[in-house]
Amino acid sequence: QSSEFCDAGTGFGDSGCVVSSKSASKLLIKGGTVVNAHHQEIADVYVEDGIIVAVKPNIKVGDDVTVLDATGKFVMPGGIDPHTHLAMEFMGTETIDDFFSGQAAALAGGTTMHIDFVIPVKGSLSKGFEAYKEKAKKSCMDYGFHMAITKWDENVSREMEIMVKEKGINSFKFFMAYKGALMINDELLLEGLKKCKSLGALAMVHAENGDAVFEGQKRMIELGITGPEGHALSRPPVLEGEATARAIRLASFVNTPLYVVHVMSIDAMEEIAKARKSGSIFWAPLGQRVIGEPVVSGLVLDDSGLWDPDFINAAKYVMSPPIRALGHDKALQAALSTGNLQLVGTDHCAFNSTQKAFGIDDFRKIPNGVNGIEERMHLVWDTMVESGQISVTDYVRITSTECARIFNMYPRKGAILAGSDADIIILNPNSSFQITARSHHSRSDTNVYEGRKGKGKVEVTIAGGKIVWENDELKAVPGSGKYIEMQPFSYLFNGIDKADAKYLSSLQAPVQRSKAAS
Ligand code: URP
Ligand code: ZN
Ligand code: ZN
Ligand code: ZN
Repeated sequence: QSSEFCDAGTGFGDSGCVVSSKSASKLLIKGGTVVNAHHQEIADVYVEDGIIVAVKPNIKVGDDVTVLDATGKFVMPGGIDPHTHLAMEFMGTETIDDFFSGQAAALAGGTTMHIDFVIPVKGSLSKGFEAYKEKAKKSCMDYGFHMAITKWDENVSREMEIMVKEKGINSFKFFMAYKGALMINDELLLEGLKKCKSLGALAMVHAENGDAVFEGQKRMIELGITGPEGHALSRPPVLEGEATARAIRLASFVNTPLYVVHVMSIDAMEEIAKARKSGSIFWAPLGQRVIGEPVVSGLVLDDSGLWDPDFINAAKYVMSPPIRALGHDKALQAALSTGNLQLVGTDHCAFNSTQKAFGIDDFRKIPNGVNGIEERMHLVWDTMVESGQISVTDYVRITSTECARIFNMYPRKGAILAGSDADIIILNPNSSFQITARSHHSRSDTNVYEGRKGKGKVEVTIAGGKIVWENDELKAVPGSGKYIEMQPFSYLFNGIDKADAKYLSSLQAPVQRSKAAS
């Protein structure tokens, strides 16, 4: 049976990979500070058969129960990564982490669920869904799916309905960049927004002006800039700001919520903050329902790495939108701490050096993407909590709870409450972490956070009621992860019908006047 626990190709290295000897369906976590998004208290957490049964002080149990001492540590909901690309075919290759190695990495870093982006197969949503179901069979933690919409016709529209009503998908992503590949135009985006609204599904955008990016790339090549730095120079923040503003206004025009993935610049962040504050014609008193997702790379890195004379080192920083100049990182952190941005993803989209080298002579051919699924919980803790920018409850909100609410899984996910899934981490604030490709669990031979150290360490990860990470040992079981179906009409849709009614009634007078005039 032991071969089941170790996947030969994952490069577990020193971290080891051992066979679990306990059945461990009953667990007691004693004496820790239990943190939810709204509240923290010292309490015990009792788990049976993958579900949290009780959260209160001084729980007494029999000796058939595995007891974990969490005194002096934080007991928190496992991280939920809203944005990953495992086993994705992209830019002529496939991301190096699949649903086992990527999830194993996640578990070692305190993330117990992720939502991955299904890419349609030749425009077919159902074929894409089936393909990803197949890829996900080796899952060792729970996962959900978003779906990308890359073309538009009656069939796509019909399939979106099937995805929402029968397949547990409640969000669709539209790429405003990657011209000639995944990119859609405004007409398609409008159709998509309308369809999303009617289904109660959340529209997500990759916001960069793809036509202008194409132009910017030509400019760089004409100037003779072919290295990784050309990637950032060809798609400056203004193109992210423009597309973000456009998507926000179109979502306002349709009156449907919008989720902006990987917010990388001040330009995009300010558009989101402005829309949330000032509102649209429809949402006047409330502020527009726009969610902004920064990713770890944007929060903790700057563009200096792209200038590394060693191509492989520089190429590992290539992702889209690009990692920005120093200053954008701090501004995104501040926006997260004030609530202008709401949750943190990774956009984990890992490629190894050989794959990155496809673009050795031309930055346009470097597969876009960085790692982060294993590093997110640690880096966000160190950067945001350890630095004093946010509270521990806020940490839980931005790494887990808000994602569960937005994608309508709360409180099954994102909470330490009786009845919730037992996806739990124990974090020791006095311990430290260190990141290196030599010991990480991704299959990539590089790590964009190589050498980073910080305070706070996830010492235990419990997924589905099982201890899967403890003493730096991973006990990930392929096939143990469940597909989590997500229902439409999350809280973001509350009141949308009332705002629509108000808009329609405001049109009564113009309709009368127009009739009278004709
Ligand atoms: O560079 C990136 N972000 N690669 C993944 C695909 C995407 O745009 O999310
Ligand atoms: Zn309480
Ligand atoms: Zn994207
Ligand atoms: Zn992505």
